[in-house]
Amino acid sequence: MCGIVGAASARNVVPILIESIGRLEYRGYDSTGLAVLNGAHGTSLERLVSTARVADLAVQAEQRQLIGTTGISHTRWATHGAPSTVNAHPHLSGGEIAVVHNGIIENYEALRARLQAAGYVFCTQTDTETIAHLVHWYWHGDAKQDLLRAVQLAVAEFTGAYAIAVISSREPGRVVGARQGSPLVVGIGAEDHFLASDATALMSVTQQVVYLEEGDVADVRRERYAIYDAQGENVQRATVTVTASAAAVELGPYRHFMQKEIFEQPRAVADTLEGIARIQPALFGVAAEDVLPAIDSVLMLACGTSYYSSLVARQWIETLARIPCTVEIASEYRYRVSVPNRRTLVVVVSQSGETADTLAALKHAKSLGHEHTLAICNVATSTMVRETALGFLTRAGTEIGVASTKAFTTQLVAHFLLALTIAKLRGRLDDADEAKWLRGLRHLPAAIQGALALEPHLIGWAQAFARKQHALFLGRGIHYPIALEGALKLKEISYIHAEAYPAGELKHGPLALVDAEMPVVAIAPNDALLEKLKSNLQEVRARGGELYVVADLDSRLTTGEGLHVIRVAEHAGLLSPVVHVIPLQLLAYHTAVLRGTDVDKPRNLAKSVTVE
Ligand code: M6R
Repeated sequence: MCGIVGAASARNVVPILIESIGRLEYRGYDSTGLAVLNGAHGTSLERLVSTARVADLAVQAEQRQLIGTTGISHTRWATHGAPSTVNAHPHLSGGEIAVVHNGIIENYEALRARLQAAGYVFCTQTDTETIAHLVHWYWHGDAKQDLLRAVQLAVAEFTGAYAIAVISSREPGRVVGARQGSPLVVGIGAEDHFLASDATALMSVTQQVVYLEEGDVADVRRERYAIYDAQGENVQRATVTVTASAAAVELGPYRHFMQKEIFEQPRAVADTLEGIARIQPALFGVAAEDVLPAIDSVLMLACGTSYYSSLVARQWIETLARIPCTVEIASEYRYRVSVPNRRTLVVVVSQSGETADTLAALKHAKSLGHEHTLAICNVATSTMVRETALGFLTRAGTEIGVASTKAFTTQLVAHFLLALTIAKLRGRLDDADEAKWLRGLRHLPAAIQGALALEPHLIGWAQAFARKQHALFLGRGIHYPIALEGALKLKEISYIHAEAYPAGELKHGPLALVDAEMPVVAIAPNDALLEKLKSNLQEVRARGGELYVVADLDSRLTTGEGLHVIRVAEHAGLLSPVVHVIPLQLLAYHTAVLRGTDVDKPRNLAKSVTVE
């Protein structure tokens, strides 16, 4: 997935293209680039690219004193072809057409062969270069140098996912965009118009945006814009005012956004709970009054951290509401044969609401006849929220660090509320229990604050982990997903190989890995499984494994030879996963800092995964 921006203005758009693409770096940062129509009549196409970050692009633009009134910019997460300046967008054709692209053109090889036969020479390994040449081919042919027509003809030939922005050297003041499967918005400025992968990219120039729909093509000019659907009909799309707090994207006193976001969790959880005085279907949208009483099971679809939060949800829903809940990795569900049950509530869980695999899984579920759909999401304006019948917005605030933290804990809060709501509808939650769980939820910010106070201990642990190549994470029951999440955090930002197992599985194979070089992290709250877990820990200790245990105040485990114990507050019962994940986030963060990795932008990853 990549980020794209386009601008058509009477003023110099180079600073806008650079600033806006910088806001999209969460979508990938393998390379960046821009192209502008330079000169008074905008007829010479100038291109800059960099495999360093956007800051380097700004330096290059400054050195070249680049200006232009029409342009496009890009930040890349490599799919086809290595991260290199050659493969960096924008891609050009004939020195006349420049294209930026987010997505994957699945039939690019066939199109490339056809264009090569027509005389086009390809310089990159990207699928995007095919777009540039195909638009150029139509632009000179059937479209008679009309960029809108050329793009409409070209996109009709694509299969796959794309959001593109295209300029032509002979049409200054015009950017043409198109989307199918990847997001794209039109930004409406005071005297200019823009395109971007998301509205926050345009925060400094406009808060008025129009979300393009699947198959739309947008003709964006300095003074106006027009949108055409896949059939070429001129269509109207609603204008939306987007509000985003600028403070949310400031680092403040923190060294990294991930650290800031870890420490924001008491506030994020409190905000997510704000105004919730009682458990009722309306928490999930007006239609929930009708939908939730009619369901007999839940299917959760998600990826990565959102998948792990859903694994916790499964246990809460089955424990509290006593209806079956299955959780599937979205990219698997969408391609397997499944047996739909029309009374199932399909819950898609996502921080961004734009994850391609989860969106495709949702689409697949709908195609199977599922009508009861709910999004648990952190972005109100996201595609996922718009495409589901019900919704719950977590109020984590903008999450910038690629490693998800506050989105996870706020998702857990949403899941718990869903479990309670279904339980109540099914007569399994009396007034006393409702009040007890609401008190428990409201106590979470304080409990998280207590866990954050353990940071100095975790810095100590991180010093040992920073020297290791591998680590194991163990948990049982509702804490097994927390072990999975702890291992994911450690591997994605410190690049230490980490795996998680339900502790009872250790003896069935992974125990063979344990020696003095393998630190083993165990989540050991004082729950019904504690004694079983202690036996598993003995198995590790007997093989010389060093144990790092995250316990409760009352877990009755003490630090000793080869055994390091830290304690969060008193046992939080079913809500304990929300607290126990905090030390694991801090451990991963400080280990990564000691190893000197790029914590907020770890290698090979991106914040929002908008390609399959
Ligand atoms: O935006 P989403 O929650 O749908 O993203 C899903 C995953 O890509 C995401 O959670 C990823 O695993 C994070 N980098 C984990 O920290």
